[in-house]
Amino acid sequence: MTVKRLPKCIGLLTSGGDCQALNAAIRGVAKAAITSGDIQVIGFLDGFRGLVEDRTIFLDSDRLSNLLTLGGTILGTSRDKPHKMPVPGADTLDMTEVALSHYEERHLDCLVCLGGGGTQKNALRLKKKGLDIITLPKTIDNDVSGTEVSFGFDTAMAIATEAIDRLHTTADSHNRIMVVEIMGHNTGWLALGSGISGGADVILIPEIPYNIDTVVEAVVERSRKGRKFSIVAVAEGAQSHQAVVSAEEGKGPGKGKKPTPKDFAAVHATPSAGVRVAEALQRATGIDTRVTALGHIQRGGSPTPRDRLLATRLGTRATELILENTFGVMVGVKGEECVPVPLEDVAGKLRLVPLDHPWIATARLVGTCLGE
Ligand code: F6P
Repeated sequence: MTVKRLPKCIGLLTSGGDCQALNAAIRGVAKAAITSGDIQVIGFLDGFRGLVEDRTIFLDSDRLSNLLTLGGTILGTSRDKPHKMPVPGADTLDMTEVALSHYEERHLDCLVCLGGGGTQKNALRLKKKGLDIITLPKTIDNDVSGTEVSFGFDTAMAIATEAIDRLHTTADSHNRIMVVEIMGHNTGWLALGSGISGGADVILIPEIPYNIDTVVEAVVERSRKGRKFSIVAVAEGAQSHQAVVSAEEGKGPGKGKKPTPKDFAAVHATPSAGVRVAEALQRATGIDTRVTALGHIQRGGSPTPRDRLLATRLGTRATELILENTFGVMVGVKGEECVPVPLEDVAGKLRLVPLDHPWIATARLVGTCLGE
C-alpha cells in the first residue's frame, strides 16, 4: 500500500513536566490538521529527546480517539534540551544539529512544541536556527508569559481546592492547624487561586515574602475568636522575608540581586516551604500542626472541561496558523481570543502574580492573611 504524502507534514512534541489536557491539545492540533485535508502529523516521543533520536509515531485519526479526557501525554515527555542532551558516557552534548537534521530529513513544515517556560526557551533556540516553530503554553504553574492562562492550571487548581476542602473537616475534628503545600514552582498562581477557592485562612506565595510573626498572629487570633482550626496554603516557592534578606546578603558582591532557589537552599536547613511554616507555627502557637504536600497529584488525572476547551482551542488555532504560514510564535490567550505571540516576547520571561492583581485584593477583602 502506498501512503499518500499530503502537501504539508508537521511534527509535534510535548516537553517539560506533564499536566492535564496535553492529550486534548495534541488532539486539537492533529484533528484540525486532518480536517484541513492538507496536513499530516507525526509525534516525536519523550520531548526534544525524540527529535534528537528520531523516534516518532504517526498521529492518525485512530491514535486520536479517546484522547480528550486522558491525563498525561501519549507522546511521553522529558526535560531534555537539544543543546544540553544527557548522553551515556558524557555529561551532556549539544545535539542541536542532529535535531535540525531530523526536521530536514522528515521534510517537516513546522514543529509544534507543547510546554512551559523551559520549552519556550528551547523552541526559540530552534527558531533562531531556522526551524518553523509554533508553541502552546502548558503548565499547572500558570507562569508562562504572553498568555493570560495555560492549560493544566484549571485542573490543578480544582485538585488543590478539593484537597483544601477535605482538610477542613479533619482539621475541624482535631482542632489542628493544617498546612497544605501547593506546587507552582517560583510563582503563586496555584496556591492563591486554590487558597481563595478553598477558603484558606492564610495563603503564602513567593511574590509576597511572609513574616512568620504575622502568620502566627493570624492563627492565634482565630483561636481567640473561638475558631477551632486554621488552614494555611503555602506555595512551594514561598519564602519568609527574613530568608529573602539572608539569601540576598549571602550573595556577597551580587548583593541586591534576586536570589535563586540555590541561595534559598543555602539559607534553609529543610527544603520544603510547607514543613518550614508548619514547624514554626507548631513551635510558636503550641497548636497541633500537620503538613500535607499535594505534590504530583496536582498534575494527574483527567482535565476539567475548562482545560479541555482551552487546549482544544489553542491546538486548533495552532493548525490554523500553520495553514496561514505564521511561525515563530506561541499561541496565547488574550481576552476571548487565541492569538499568536512572538516567541521572543515569551521565552525567558516568568509570569509572576502581579502585586496589584485582583485575586490578591480579593484575598485581602475576605480577611485572608497573606503573611505581610
Ligand atoms: O512545572 C510544573 C511542576 O509541577 C512545578 O509545579 C514543580 O515545581 C515541578 O514541576 C516538579 O517537577 P518534577 O515533575 O520534575 O518533579
